[in-house]
Amino acid sequence: MNGGTLSNLIRSKTDIVDIIGERIPLVKRGKNFFGVCPFHDDTNPSMSVSREKQIFTCFTCHHTGNVFTFLMDYDKMSFNEALKYLGDRVGVDTKGVSIKQSNTKYSRFYEIYDLSVKYYQNNLLSSFGSNARNYLENRGIDKDTIKKFSIGLSLPNNNDLTELLTKKKYDIEDLNKIGLSNNNFDIYKDRIMFPLFDINGRVVAFSGRIYDNRDESKYINTKETPIFIKGEQLYNYHIAKEEVRNSKYLIIMEGFMDVIRASTIGLSNVIALMGTALTKEQMKLIKRLSNNIVLCLDGDKPGQSASYKIGEEFLKENIEVKVVSLPNNDDPDSFILKEGKDKFLSYIENAVNYSDFKINMMKEDVNFNSDIEKANYINKVIEELVSLNDEIRIEIILKKLAKEFDLEYNTLGKRFQELKDKSNVKKEQKVKIEPIKTTRKNKYNQAIEQVIYFMLTNEWVITEVEKERLLLPDEKFRILVQEIIYYYKTFGSINVADFYTYVQEKKDLVPSVNDILNGQYNEKVDRDTLFLYFGVIRDYSRKNQIKRLKEKMINEIDPLEQARLADEIRKLRIGEV
Ligand code: UTP
Ligand code: MN
Repeated sequence: MNGGTLSNLIRSKTDIVDIIGERIPLVKRGKNFFGVCPFHDDTNPSMSVSREKQIFTCFTCHHTGNVFTFLMDYDKMSFNEALKYLGDRVGVDTKGVSIKQSNTKYSRFYEIYDLSVKYYQNNLLSSFGSNARNYLENRGIDKDTIKKFSIGLSLPNNNDLTELLTKKKYDIEDLNKIGLSNNNFDIYKDRIMFPLFDINGRVVAFSGRIYDNRDESKYINTKETPIFIKGEQLYNYHIAKEEVRNSKYLIIMEGFMDVIRASTIGLSNVIALMGTALTKEQMKLIKRLSNNIVLCLDGDKPGQSASYKIGEEFLKENIEVKVVSLPNNDDPDSFILKEGKDKFLSYIENAVNYSDFKINMMKEDVNFNSDIEKANYINKVIEELVSLNDEIRIEIILKKLAKEFDLEYNTLGKRFQELKDKSNVKKEQKVKIEPIKTTRKNKYNQAIEQVIYFMLTNEWVITEVEKERLLLPDEKFRILVQEIIYYYKTFGSINVADFYTYVQEKKDLVPSVNDILNGQYNEKVDRDTLFLYFGVIRDYSRKNQIKRLKEKMINEIDPLEQARLADEIRKLRIGEV
């Protein structure tokens, strides 16, 4: 990374509000924009983005940065990738910027996967591939779809891929490590190969499906590797993240075949969990895309139970979920094949609110011949309604319940009100208990941070600080001040966002700069105020020095040296130094 003119030029033509706003919903409040911070677990809009300073900062987790570091942290780009990405957007030539260099760590692995995908694709087109091609055709997967999802075929021989890759001088150790080979043998034999992509669209694994009646597991997935983290896998994420911007909602399915089928009817705002579990990491990734979720899992019992569980997770995150329950144990794939596009779209449009779905689900195992179970059920439903923020819906459901079980509406209404009041009391208590978070900094630290902040926002302050030759006891601040002065002299000007790029190279400085950018400071400064701050700092430095000399004096055995130290202390006290 560098503070060079190219990155400064690209940054100056870019608006951080646009870049972050395309990824996370931002709302303008006062001078700044606010959104839910993607770098910690949250539902509150605690991240602020400043158009003026071109910096983002979260006042909860304190994650801070400029547009480059945002893309690096959020989109997992390297610095050079971020540079190229933004350069392309604003029309600045980045031909000289090399991307390979910056992600050497795993680039070999990605390369191997790219080659493997091509190899498998060729196999599917070869004469050996005719059975597999028939299978796909019978399932209604046409050539375009095969191409779109880079579907391929592994051969039945023992070591075709391994041999090909080792001949190309790839290390067998690497092939083992990334789950393509086991010793000298291929892992995948005679399976239809579905590449799995990471969130940036790079192939990082495969799922291989049998296509005859072989007695083996239906799918084999690549093991967990340095580039394939199973808990973070979401099929089609890289496509859906673009689509969601237009569609404004995200559909979640179980299997990648469902996603592939959905794409054949023009639905691409869809991802697959690759099963019925939802990990914390997957939740984080999904939250980045949308807070408007439609769960469309399989229609069978496991699928519906999964909707129940997963819906609850989303609710906890304050994310609106709707649920589609497909009939006849269908999954989206089989349903679309049987019933067609329009019918499926009408199911999506008529997805029910999660709370309604939940109330329906709660009914499933109740024995309505037992009065106790019946009463339990009714109570549970009413409890559920307490968390619902929709009075009309609450009334509708209560009326339905009353009618269904032949009870007085008022009885149910009273019970509802009781529970509602109880929950309100609990909420109030909760609010009271929450401690107010304040980080206390001493006067000196406040002053020095304020001065450094002024240096980054008012160039004339830099000159004053240099003239003043302030003595800073704290090394991290001392170096930071030197770096600001150096930067200003080298580039002839300074702003927070570009300086932030510059310090990324000097890793030790990043935390102090983050600290500074996280603080609450006065924005306006004149000479008099500045000198007041200088005074505080000087005073503190002097006291600090006196303290050090005193300690030295106590430990000193040479009386002459002791006397010299005493004199030095005296001079400091009367301000002669
Ligand atoms: P499903 O069994 O519902 O797959 O498993 P599917 O989408 O209907 O597949 P087809 O239609 O039979 O081809 C859902 C997901 O669970 C994972 C896969 O990721 C699949 O997409 N799975 C399933 C496995 O990993 N291994 C298996 O043996 C089965
Ligand atoms: Mn299926």
